[in-house]
Amino acid sequence: MKKQKAFVYRCSACGHEEQKWLGRCPECGEWNTLAETAVSPVVKRGMPSQGRRGEPNPESIPLAAVDPQEGKRVPSGIDELDRVLGGGIMKRSCILVGGEPGIGKSTLLLQAAALAGTKGRVLYVSGEESAGQIRMRGDRLGLDAGAQQRIEVLCSGCIEDIERSIEKTRPLVIIIDSVQTLYSAEAGLSPGALNQMRFCAWELISWVKEHDAALFLVAHVTKDGLIAGPKALEHMVDTVLYFEGNFSAAGGDCRFLRAVKNRFGSVDEIGIFTMGEKGLAPVEDPSLLFLVRREGELPPGVATAAVLEGSRTLLVEIQALTSPAKGSMSRVFSDRIDSARVSRVAAAIEKHLALRLSDQDLYINAAGGIKISEVGAELALAAAIYSARTGLSLPAKTCIAGDLSLTGEVRPIRRLPVRVRTAANLGYDSFVGPLPDSAEALPGRFTGVKNIGEAIKALFGPAPPAARHSPS
Ligand code: TYD
Ligand code: MG
Repeated sequence: MKKQKAFVYRCSACGHEEQKWLGRCPECGEWNTLAETAVSPVVKRGMPSQGRRGEPNPESIPLAAVDPQEGKRVPSGIDELDRVLGGGIMKRSCILVGGEPGIGKSTLLLQAAALAGTKGRVLYVSGEESAGQIRMRGDRLGLDAGAQQRIEVLCSGCIEDIERSIEKTRPLVIIIDSVQTLYSAEAGLSPGALNQMRFCAWELISWVKEHDAALFLVAHVTKDGLIAGPKALEHMVDTVLYFEGNFSAAGGDCRFLRAVKNRFGSVDEIGIFTMGEKGLAPVEDPSLLFLVRREGELPPGVATAAVLEGSRTLLVEIQALTSPAKGSMSRVFSDRIDSARVSRVAAAIEKHLALRLSDQDLYINAAGGIKISEVGAELALAAAIYSARTGLSLPAKTCIAGDLSLTGEVRPIRRLPVRVRTAANLGYDSFVGPLPDSAEALPGRFTGVKNIGEAIKALFGPAPPAARHSPS
């Protein structure tokens, strides 16, 4: 790409920078606000440590003098995406969006292209679909005429074509669908080669860092979750998002967007969508999504956990099944909750409740297929395992949260009052959790417990000894 000049044209209204003078700022739409502003020289391609990637000053400067990037965010127009990004699309950032084919990456980014809060152009580069196919998807998504006008489509994976188009259209958001189709005609290699993909991605990343734009790179991930190629790009980009799922307890078509790396926000937040006739729609209240509607008494082996996903509380039904071990060693089958965690909780139950589990195979599931990594789910997991092994059902409309230590103690968890309130709002009138650390009144019937023994008593009543080893 072209070498950066010693000056840029900066908009006096919004601070947006352009390499060429324009009568109207493409970002804020103001007229005659771009003025020549000096920048320090940028060194040549391939020398990232010496000032490429948007840090145009190779000399050190006091931290206090650095222009904070914070605040330079553009809303994507999709709240769930903004939430995962940490409050919108950061300018000069590069976001890798990974996921299995068919999960909805192209749909998500075309919707974001149409709704992004920028008046400038959006360049949608597709090496996989024809312009006609993209237009058809746009029509299906109901993109308005303004959005269709603003989105420039280029169907090519050739980096030289893409660069030409970028120089011509000066986009503020660039979407590459997908990195696997990028190649350089000059380098003469075929698409898909790793160094080729890295080289092309680096070119694009460098451009957006220098031009106040943002870049989305779509990356396909294979069924077994291997991202051999795109994984090699993770260190080069600012944010890595994964789009996954395809299920919900209610049988809907539900997808999760998670950040696994984010230089500009937390990686705790998830975005939840459903795929419908008109593309992806946000799930505004996901708290009920992972529950199974049940009437009357619960079957044994089922417990409801109140878990935190970022800033939201979700109620999730955890299901456990024990069956006598088929081999000489018992095994844990659990792909929603880490198996090592399940084994640890089972060992704590065996030790502190004298309930034999080591001769049992354990099967664990979470309704709706959500993966749970939060420690607050451990007490509910313990209750589900206990219930499965003893054949005793948990009381209906009871929610559980707590961190279980190896010593059998129930330890405090983050944001207990919020979890209790969410459960109460959803009709869960009783809650068993760790002793609250403040005297704040909790809604509904709350029972604070110190250890697993107290929790089991609170949930099942004093356990009848006969139930301890039945059914085997
Ligand atoms: P797509 O965005 O093409 O997935 P990816 O880019 O990750 O491969 O979405 C694919 C699926 O979504 C496809 O099976 C069709 C479906 N879909 C809908 O159900 N509704 C819609 O409005 C759109 C655009 C797609
Ligand atoms: Mg696609």
